[in-house]
Amino acid sequence: MAEVVLDAKGLTKTYGDMNAVDNLDLQVFKGEVYSMLGPNGAGKTTTVEILEGLRNPTSGTAKVFGFDVQKDYDKVRSRVGVLPQTFEPWDRIRPPEAIEYWAGLFGRKISKKEIRGLLEMVDLAHKDNVWGERLSGGEKRRLGIAMALVGEPELIFLDEPTTGLDPQARRGLWEIIHALGDAGKTVFLTTHYLEEAENLADRVSIMNKGKTVVSGSPEELVNLYGGGTHVVLKSAGEEGFVALEKLGYKSTFHNRDVTVHVPALMRTKDFMAQINQSGVAYKDFETRRPSLEDVFFNMVGGRMEEGVLKQ
Ligand SMILES: Nc1ncnc2c1ncn2[C@@H]1O[C@H](COP(=O)(O)OP(=O)(O)OP(=O)(O)O)[C@@H](O)[C@H]1O
Ligand SMILES: [Mg+2]
Repeated sequence: MAEVVLDAKGLTKTYGDMNAVDNLDLQVFKGEVYSMLGPNGAGKTTTVEILEGLRNPTSGTAKVFGFDVQKDYDKVRSRVGVLPQTFEPWDRIRPPEAIEYWAGLFGRKISKKEIRGLLEMVDLAHKDNVWGERLSGGEKRRLGIAMALVGEPELIFLDEPTTGLDPQARRGLWEIIHALGDAGKTVFLTTHYLEEAENLADRVSIMNKGKTVVSGSPEELVNLYGGGTHVVLKSAGEEGFVALEKLGYKSTFHNRDVTVHVPALMRTKDFMAQINQSGVAYKDFETRRPSLEDVFFNMVGGRMEEGVLKQ
């Protein structure tokens, strides 16, 4: 059995009459990249900060490495690294100095070689002479990860490490997170990018309004809740859309293409035979496997655009 690193039971955090986190259970195992996925306000940061010992839950328990985070956080602090959602480096301090200063705050001595190693890990060695304020958004987050790695923590919390970054900078961070996973670290990652969770996480929990909607590996979730294969009928137009509705299929219409959810138990071949028989006109077709985006849509009832839930 894999070792349980994080264990939360019935975690609840109430602000006024709203439950920001609502009776949440979760377990994270040693060496896995676990992603909590959810729109703005889902309760991700509240959960992470409770698990980091920074906020107290209203009720429920959270254990890290077997220690209660409310009572015994001193016992786990040195084994945990944190990149807060709002991380910004200091303006007038260079990356190596920031790391050294950070280590000093925790009473740790850190050698020049270790600092160099951390900067290389996050691909910032060539920026060692640049003020914090002059780093790009992606470089700032990478410095934040290097700081979170001071002291070789076993468990690393990354709260939305790629939000607001351009796709290239985001990919750069994915590589770092992959490398942390490969190095056997346990990573707890929050995000509202579905493809990020799908790409990085061994297990995902989809969170909405303080509750876990579903959790499991991306493959499991796609198989169970992805809603079967999608067939895109190119240029089938509105007439095609109406015809498919009449045949009882759930479909969407975009740019004259009609996308149809083929039920999980139906073979695509049989579906196409039926479409051809019923005379629906289309130019071409392609099939698409469902993704976490479909799971999200089916289970939460909306789409996420830059963290905003559109229902
Ligand atoms: N200190 C606080 N006082 C009152 N309400 C709070 C406080 N912190 C968070 N909340 C509320 O709790 C809910 C969850 O917030 P949280 O920051 O955990 O969400 P999140 O999932 O991290 O969102 P985002 O993706 O925007 O970071 C929100 O409705 C938020 O307004
Ligand atoms: Mg947050």
